[in-house]
Amino acid sequence: MGAEMIKIAVLGYGVVGSGVVEVIERNHAEISRKAGDEVSVKYILDLRDFPGDPHEDKIVHDFDRIMEDDEVSVLCEVMGGVGPAYQYTKRALSAGKSVCTSNKELVAMHGAELLALASANHCNYMFEASVGGGIPIIRAVNSALTAERIQAVTGILNGTTNYILTKMAKEGVDYCEALKQAQALGYAERNPAADVEGADACRKLAILASLMTGRNVSTDRIYVEGITKVSREDLEYARIAEMAVKPLVLGSVREDGSVLAMVAPFMVPLDHPLARVDDVFNGVLVTGNMLGDAMFYGRGAGKLPTASAVAADVVDCAKHPGKTVWCFWNQEEAQVADVADTQRRFFVRARAAQREAVEKAFPGGQVFFREDREDFGLLTRTMVEREFEAGYKGLGDAVLSRLRVL
Ligand code: HSE
Repeated sequence: MGAEMIKIAVLGYGVVGSGVVEVIERNHAEISRKAGDEVSVKYILDLRDFPGDPHEDKIVHDFDRIMEDDEVSVLCEVMGGVGPAYQYTKRALSAGKSVCTSNKELVAMHGAELLALASANHCNYMFEASVGGGIPIIRAVNSALTAERIQAVTGILNGTTNYILTKMAKEGVDYCEALKQAQALGYAERNPAADVEGADACRKLAILASLMTGRNVSTDRIYVEGITKVSREDLEYARIAEMAVKPLVLGSVREDGSVLAMVAPFMVPLDHPLARVDDVFNGVLVTGNMLGDAMFYGRGAGKLPTASAVAADVVDCAKHPGKTVWCFWNQEEAQVADVADTQRRFFVRARAAQREAVEKAFPGGQVFFREDREDFGLLTRTMVEREFEAGYKGLGDAVLSRLRVL
């Protein structure tokens, strides 16, 4: 070990922040050896006091204390949200202090700008923990797969919604109870609407799609549907059709260079690898033009897996003092394709009494019918989404729900 210690500050002492402190403490020897110097937490910034906490003496309330301390070279921004996190990150990077974050909202919104700022100041903005929790997907896309032209990412990037749908499908737990469990386990966002309405997965897809293309894919240009409309009946029909319902993100680069990016619950055939990604686990299938498919799987949320990814970024920053690790994401906006022009199959659940009209609207589909039910399921042939939606809307209240099929 050299004489220089690597002193870090943790911004936010919540689930992930306390995890970062714990990981750096418990894996102190490994982390310090790999960083090349001893890594230690010097400050923890939080609005609250933590009387009796073993790290009470490190708590500060004033960000300037951290900025004024030249010994602190790396900040872990795990506060979440955009407001102060954005200002603190800009100030730190402008002063040449590297920032490692799990804050997907901030990365999705200002990632390209913050990377440029880091580069101009010879430091780093790293965000491995912002996508896929503990899965090293950012490093894989940026570095291990750097020789690839990445054509598509298809994945489950929200642990909370995957947990909810798994519990509902496999254990018959109701939606509210499953969400409560996910919150108690520290998986859900402070406002779980961001999970269940799809905003969290959308931010993660924006980050991955931007890294895939090198151009900025803004969240507001991504098609988003949450899981709140998925019912027990939909899950039951999925089982009958030998599929699972999964909260997916899809990002792909089309032949004209435009990007297709969407977040929605999908029915996934049981023989597809993503159908087996259950509970809080995330899975991402990356398709490269040379590699073909590679699947990344692991814990997508939770204190220690997420904190481990932040700590890995700290080590990376420590290994590159005064140098920016290249990350290909510029501020130019990518061209985004219209989801309505894509083709796929759909699963429709409709009233059994109107079966004839529904089958007429979607000819050539496969019907799942049970005598004891007042509804039935229909798996359409492959069709353009715009045409499907027109047919679906035309059926009015004959149809009860619909899901896309992967
Ligand atoms: N709420 C997020 C999830 C946390 O459930 O995936 C990890 O980003």
